[in-house]
Amino acid sequence: MENPFHNRDVISMRDIARDELDMLFTTTDRIMKMSMQDRLDICKGKVLCYLFFEPSTRTRLSFEAAMASIGGISIGIASSKESSMEKGESLVDTVRAVDSYSDLIVIRHRLDGAARLAAEVAENPVINAGSGAEEHPTQAMLDLYTILKEKGSIDGLRIGIVGDLKYSRTVYSLLYALSKYSVDVHLIAPPLLRIRKESLYAIDSLSIREHDSIDEVIDMLDVIYVTRIQRERFPDVQEYEKVRHSYIIDARVLARAKSDAIVLHPLPRVDEVTYDVDSDARARYFKQVSYGKDVRAALLALIINATPPV
Ligand code: NCD
Repeated sequence: MENPFHNRDVISMRDIARDELDMLFTTTDRIMKMSMQDRLDICKGKVLCYLFFEPSTRTRLSFEAAMASIGGISIGIASSKESSMEKGESLVDTVRAVDSYSDLIVIRHRLDGAARLAAEVAENPVINAGSGAEEHPTQAMLDLYTILKEKGSIDGLRIGIVGDLKYSRTVYSLLYALSKYSVDVHLIAPPLLRIRKESLYAIDSLSIREHDSIDEVIDMLDVIYVTRIQRERFPDVQEYEKVRHSYIIDARVLARAKSDAIVLHPLPRVDEVTYDVDSDARARYFKQVSYGKDVRAALLALIINATPPV
């Protein structure tokens, strides 16, 4: 298969086909088996520039760690306060400038559409690392890779997605990704946090059922994907107050889950997964973090190199 990622923007999970995901995951496995010396040659002399206008720990650092692991370097800004946008410079001008310093741009912005705008302006490829409440495609890539590694396959699974389905961008990218597989999805959220159906496009092929409480389905789920309440995206703080603490995954809830279920979370968690769950063998969210770096290294390798490095 030709490398479909070469020089390509990664803005939405909707744009990526299943065989392309398969190739990404195979490349991830292969890169992880390479010697350190060979790995460091993959992106030698290449520069990643990150523009993060919203807070991040994992996504930004995992991109940096991933780029370092394949021999490239990263430069960038980690908050809008650090950039000339604070002086009134536009996003478009900012992107044009950094485009000339780097081989690839990774952007996170509080507004839907910002990553796509950056991709239109930049000559080099742009990766969306979170655009408003819209999408976070590389998170979905690592979510799928984690499911694949931890469960052996994706097809045939019952996947529960729990929490703030209204504002969690990771959920929208994950649903687009899952729509390429044969899975049953259960969306579990209190009424005020239900999915924005009008923001989902062309996923009719996906079997989706909605529930108010996890108790209705916990005993049949293979994957329990929990999300944080996205407090910063609530237009009204009163609305946030109504839903905070409205769902919780703790040892009591997990007592009814399948013994081979896995618990995932894009992180950061606040209080929706209690700390006692961390010692349960089914908790895989920290493993998910580690897979994230590996998948991002493969994605960067494929975008930057015309021929797959392995
Ligand atoms: C997510 C995000 O930024 O959308 N974080 C992440 O990248 N792992 C989820 C969140 O902030 O809740």
